[in-house]
Formats: sequence, structure tokens, C-alpha cells
Amino acid sequence: MSDGPGVPTTEKVRGVFTRIARDYDRMNRVLSMGLDQGWRRRLVREAALTPGCEVLDVAAGTGDVAFAIARTGVPALVIATDFTPAMLDIARVRAASRPALVGGSTDVRFEHQDGQALTYEDGSFDVVTVSFGIRNMPDRAAGFREACRVLKAGGRYLILEFTAPRAVWFRPLFRFYLGVVVPLLGQLITGDRASYQYLNDSIMQFPTPEALAIELKDAGFSEVRWVPMLIGAVNLHVSTK
Ligand SMILES: C[S@@+](CC[C@H](N)C(=O)[O-])C[C@H]1O[C@@H](n2cnc3c(N)ncnc32)[C@H](O)[C@@H]1O
Repeated sequence: MSDGPGVPTTEKVRGVFTRIARDYDRMNRVLSMGLDQGWRRRLVREAALTPGCEVLDVAAGTGDVAFAIARTGVPALVIATDFTPAMLDIARVRAASRPALVGGSTDVRFEHQDGQALTYEDGSFDVVTVSFGIRNMPDRAAGFREACRVLKAGGRYLILEFTAPRAVWFRPLFRFYLGVVVPLLGQLITGDRASYQYLNDSIMQFPTPEALAIELKDAGFSEVRWVPMLIGAVNLHVSTK
């Protein structure tokens, strides 16, 4: 794969998230105008977790999905994984500051893993989630294959991701926000314009929900559907192994 502006490579992605880890949560709240946690809560609702279930969160970053699951109080095991140590460090610090949450009925653990080459056995999990992470994988098909491999038969795979919206009136606004406002805020708040420019370029290059559904079916998933949010700029894909 060529190394264009929005094209992920392992080195580029790890570099970006190592640089922005400290400001990642604050920037998410600012850039999404407080909406991002609601999107993750929707993912957790669609996951339909049952007591005793085992969840793998891939590209977990600073742990928001794991914490959202823990907040439901479902007695579950959540293994939150990422391949950028700086992001996992923040996740662990956040977890340590919430002992009642992550030490409650939901058992949350953090592990270093590459989502394209997981070390778990086949059929280990009831649910696999990936929130704003699949876009950053250089080999997305490998990420899908691995998710499918580690899921139990009938297990659910949930992907939350941005894409360029289809609505004609919203597209220019979204483009302006991504291309001008986000890099500017990235510069002002974190001093790192380039990292936010990459993240934005990667959103504009991400496939449509229909195209992603075909990729998911090719990887072995069935019953692929998606829930559009933010006028189609964010989509939650739900599929079954
Ligand atoms: C935009 S953040 C999303 C973090 C979190 N899931 C959330 O909802 O805020 C993307 C994360 O994907 C991770 N990532 C990208 N490629 C990865 C890979 N191949 N394996 C594991 N983690 C990866 C990055 O390190 C980063 O923490």
C-alpha cells in the first residue's frame, strides 16, 4: 500500500497516537462537541452483552469503550487491546483512578496487541468491538479476519467509524470542519497540526458503509447491518460470525 496523506502505515499510526495520547480524550470531546461518548454508548447497547460474556476491544486507545461497558454494570470480562503503548498507558492511569468502575462487576484488563495479528485462540470471545480504530489499520482485511477468527460462532462484531457523509448539503460542511477547523484546533490545543491532518485525510478515504459491508462478508461475517449517526458521518456496523 502506498504512503499517501491519509493512508495508514504502522509506523505513521503509532507515531500519531504516541504524539497525541496525552491530549486524545480532551480533543475527542472538543472535536465531537461532546457527541463521541454517546456513539460509544450506542455501540455498547447494540453489543447486547449478557452476564458472563467475554469482550475483546481492539484498538482500545485510552479505554473509552471498556469504561462504557463497565458503566453498564454487566458482569463481563473486557480485554481492551492496542498497539500503541502511550495510549494504553493513559488507559491504565484512567482505570486506576476508577477502581470502583473497573474492579466492579465488569473485569477490565489492558493488553498490548496488534489487531491485525491477535495472539488469542480461535473462538475466544462473544463480542469483538473496534471504535475509531479500523480506519487506522494498514491491512483492514487482516483486522476483519482476525476479529472473525477470535469470535465464537454466533459472536458479534461491532465497528464504530467515521466516513464521508453522503448528504449533499452536509458534505461541504463536513469537509470544511475536517479540513480547516480540526487541524486548526489540533494546532491550537495540542500544537500538532500534522497528526490531526492525517486523521482527517484518513476519514475522507474510508469506504462507504455499503463497501465496508462487502469487505465484512468477504471476511466471513453475515447479517451485516449498520446504524448511521451524525447524518451518516459516523456509522456503527454490526455483524455476526
Ligand atoms: C482513534 S483511536 C481510537 C481509540 C478508542 N477505541 C476510542 O474509541 O477512542 C485509534 C487507536 O487505534 C490504535 N490502532 C491502530 N492500528 C492498530 C492496530 N493494528 N492494532 C492495534 N491498535 C491499533 C491506535 O494505537 C489508537 O489507539
